[in-house]
Amino acid sequence: MADYTIACLPGDGIGPEVVAEARKAVDAAAARFGFGLAWVDYDLGADRWLRTGEALPDTALKELRDADAILLGAVGRPDVPPGVLERGLLLRLRFELDLYVNLRPVKLYPAVASPLAGVGPGDVDLLVVRENTEGVYVGAGGVVHRGGPAEVATETSIETRVGVERCLRYAAARAKERSGRLTLVHKTNVLVHAGDLWRRAAGEVAAEVGVELDYAHADAACLYLVGDPGRFDVIVTDNLFGDILTDLGAAIAGGLGTAASANLNPASSPSLFEPVHGSAPDIAGTGTANPVAAVLSAALLLQHLGERAAAAAVEAGAVAVLQGAAGYSTQALGDRIATAVAGGGAPTT
Ligand code: IPM
Ligand code: MN
Repeated sequence: MADYTIACLPGDGIGPEVVAEARKAVDAAAARFGFGLAWVDYDLGADRWLRTGEALPDTALKELRDADAILLGAVGRPDVPPGVLERGLLLRLRFELDLYVNLRPVKLYPAVASPLAGVGPGDVDLLVVRENTEGVYVGAGGVVHRGGPAEVATETSIETRVGVERCLRYAAARAKERSGRLTLVHKTNVLVHAGDLWRRAAGEVAAEVGVELDYAHADAACLYLVGDPGRFDVIVTDNLFGDILTDLGAAIAGGLGTAASANLNPASSPSLFEPVHGSAPDIAGTGTANPVAAVLSAALLLQHLGERAAAAAVEAGAVAVLQGAAGYSTQALGDRIATAVAGGGAPTT
C-alpha cells in the first residue's frame, strides 16, 4: 500500500525531462527511508490542449484534489497562445486548490556562482513568501472598445483581509523558526489602499506571532537584494511583486537552475511543487536542462509531506552534483542525484 499518492504533471518543454529525474530522486528516497509512493501521471499541457482544447478538465481537477501532492514540470509552448495554459492550467490549479502561499527559497548553494561580486554561499539564504491567489492574478478587469482609439483596459488588483492575513501568518511562522525577522515588501507610497491593508495586517500578525517586522518598498527591495541580500531573511509580499522579486532572487542565487518553489495550502492537501524555470522550449529535447530545480522542488514536496529525512537527503543529493553540473546531461545528473540519495554518499565522479 502506498503511503502517498503523488500526481505528476510533467507538462511542456523541458518539464518532462526534469520531472523524470526528480522522480528518480524521490523514488530513491522512498526506498531508503521506507515509505511507499504511487505516482499518477497526467498528460496536461500544450499537446493535450492542441488535441482537445482542454487545459484542465474538471475530471482531472477532481482527481487531483485527492492526491497527497502534485509535482509539476512546466507549462507553456510557443505554439499555444500566451496565457492559455498559464491561466487555464497553472493559475487555475493555484486558485481551485487554494494554494495561497508560493514559497520560493532564494539560496546560493556551494559550487554555484552568483553574479554578485564577492558573494558566496551563506551570503544569500532567504525565503520569499509570495501571496499566490490574489492581486492582479485574479483576472478581474476587461477591455472595451477593443482596437479603437477609445480602447480601455483594466486589470484590477484584489486584496482581501483574509487572503493577506493568512499569507502573513504563514510567513511569520517561517520567520519565527528562522531568524525572527520578517520583511514586508510592497509599495505603500503609491498603492495606498492595498498597501495600507498589508501594512496594518502585517503589524498585527508580527506582534501576535512575536517576530520583528521590517518594511521595504518593492523597488528598493530590488536594490537591496542586489546590494545587500543579507539584510533579508523572510520576505512576504503580494502576488505580482513576489513574481518579479523571485526571478531577481533566482538571478542572485546563480540562476534558474536551482530555483525551486512550493505552491502551498498549509492547511490541506494537496500542494503543488514546481521548478521556477518554466518550459524553456529553446533547449527542450537537447538533454541539457538542469534537473536540480525540479529535484529541489521535490525535496520541498517531501518536506511538506512530513518526510524530513527524505527531504534532506534529496536536497543533499541535488547539492552534491552542482560542482561541474554543466558537463553532464539532464539524465546523467538525475542518475548521480538518485545514487547519492539511495546511498547517502556524494557522487565521486
Ligand atoms: C511563476 C510564473 C507564473 C506566474 C506564470 C507562468 C503564470 O512566472 O510561477 O513565477 O506569473 O506566477
Ligand atoms: Mn514568475
